[in-house]
Amino acid sequence: MSHLSKQFPIRDRGRRRVLHAVDDVSFALRSGETVALVGGSGSGSGSGKSRIARMLARLTVPTGGRSVHSGQ
Ligand SMILES: Nc1ncnc2c1ncn2[C@@H]1O[C@H](COP(=O)(O)OP(=O)(O)O)[C@@H](O)[C@H]1O
Ligand SMILES: [Mg+2]
Repeated sequence: MSHLSKQFPIRDRGRRRVLHAVDDVSFALRSGETVALVGGSGSGSGSGKSRIARMLARLTVPTGGRSVHSGQ
């Protein structure tokens, strides 16, 4: 994962703004490794764990950066 970001356009009390769900995240996962992604959770206060997992699984497209899978 290289400089991954995920942003959502939202409305906050009637005003448009951008929610930075994932902001410049880079890490490498290697075959045979077990990695834990740890961070706060909660309605509206998540830290981006599930958004990162969804981009890693290619269920969603990053706003910025990229996930490179071996053999590609
Ligand atoms: N579709 C969406 N639209 C707007 N905000 C979102 C959306 N999906 C997630 N978010 C926000 O992005 C942040 C990170 O979400 P998430 O990855 O689900 O957190 P975690 O899995 O760490 O609890 C949270 O503030 C969440 O409310
Ligand atoms: Mg989650």
